[in-house]
Amino acid sequence: MDGSLNGIELAGRLLLAPIAGYTDSPYRRIAARHGAGLTVTELISAEGIVRKNRNTTRLLEFHDGERPLAIQIFGKSAGVMAGAASIVEELGPDVIDINLGCPAPKVCGSGSGAALLLDPVSIREIVSAVVSAVSLPVTAKIRLGWDDKSRNYMDVVKAIEDSGARAVIVHGRTRAQKYGGLADWDAIREIRENCSLPVIGNGDISGHDEALARMESSGCQAVMIGRGALGNPWIFSGKTPSHGEIVSLIKEHLDMMLDFYGGKGIILFRKHMVKYIRDMRNASALRGLLMAAATRDEIISILDGSS
Ligand SMILES: Cc1cc2nc3c(=O)[nH]c(=O)nc-3n(C[C@H](O)[C@H](O)[C@H](O)COP(=O)(O)O)c2cc1C
Repeated sequence: MDGSLNGIELAGRLLLAPIAGYTDSPYRRIAARHGAGLTVTELISAEGIVRKNRNTTRLLEFHDGERPLAIQIFGKSAGVMAGAASIVEELGPDVIDINLGCPAPKVCGSGSGAALLLDPVSIREIVSAVVSAVSLPVTAKIRLGWDDKSRNYMDVVKAIEDSGARAVIVHGRTRAQKYGGLADWDAIREIRENCSLPVIGNGDISGHDEALARMESSGCQAVMIGRGALGNPWIFSGKTPSHGEIVSLIKEHLDMMLDFYGGKGIILFRKHMVKYIRDMRNASALRGLLMAAATRDEIISILDGSS
C-alpha cells in the first residue's frame, strides 16, 4: 500500500527510521530501492544548519534515489528551527521531521530532542514555527515521555496536532529507557485511537511480517523500522535474499560508501558489514577476516570465498 498519508507521498507503509551514523545517503538509497516507503536523515542540528557548519551541511546531502525523503532537524529555539527549516526546504526534500525523542546527553543537555517532551508548550511553539516557515509537510518524532513518571504522550501529541503537523511518529519508549526494555505498542495504539493525525508506530520491529502485524494490531497507518533494517533492507519487501544476493549488495554498498566518503568509506562501512553477515555460516570467522581487511579488493576476495 502506498500513496498519500495526509499529504505526505509515501512509496509504501514500512518506513526507514533514522539511525545516526547508519542511515546516510548510501544506505537510504539502498533502503528506498528495496521498498522503504520513506527514508529519513539522521538528526541534524538546526543551529549547525543556520550557521552553515561544514559537517552539518554534509549531512544534508541526498540523492533523488532516496525519495521520498525526510530531513530530520533538532533544536530548542523555535526561531532557529524555523530558519533551519527554510534552508532545508530549499534543498528540496519531501518532508521535514522534527526530532523530539533523542536521548543523547549532548542533545538533551541543551534542551533539545527528548528534553522537549518535558515542555509541550515549547513543542507547540517549535512545531508551529516550522510549519509556518515552510510549505513542505512537517512531521514530529516523539518518545512516550521523559521517564516512567512522566509518560505525557497525549499532551505532547495534542501540541503537535494543534500546530499543523501532518503526522506523528512514535517510538514506544521513554527517554529513560534509551533503547532498553521493550517498546510499548499498547501506548502507540492508544495514541493512534486518540489522535486525529496519522500515527507512524516505531520500536523493535525485526521482520517484514512482524511489521505488517504491528501495523494491523496498533491501527497505525505506517510503521518505521530502524535497527531491524540494518544489514537487512529486504525487511521492506519481505523477500528472503540468497547468499549471492547478500554478497552482491555488500559489494555494491561498499562501492557506494567509497564513492560518497572517499577512502574513509572502508572504515565507515565496517559497522554495516557486520550487520549483513550476522546470519551467514561461519559469521564470526568471516567477521574477523573482514574487520581486518584494509582495502576494497581484500574485502571482495574474502566475500567471494564465503558461502
Ligand atoms: C544508534 C542509533 C541512532 C539513532 N539515531 C536517531 C536519529 O538520528 N533520529 C531519530 O529520530 N531517532 C534515532 N534513533 C532512534 C530510531 O529511529 C528508532 O526510533 C529506535 O531505534 C527504535 O526503533 P527500532 O527498534 O526499529 O530501531 C536512533 C537509534 C539508534 C539505535
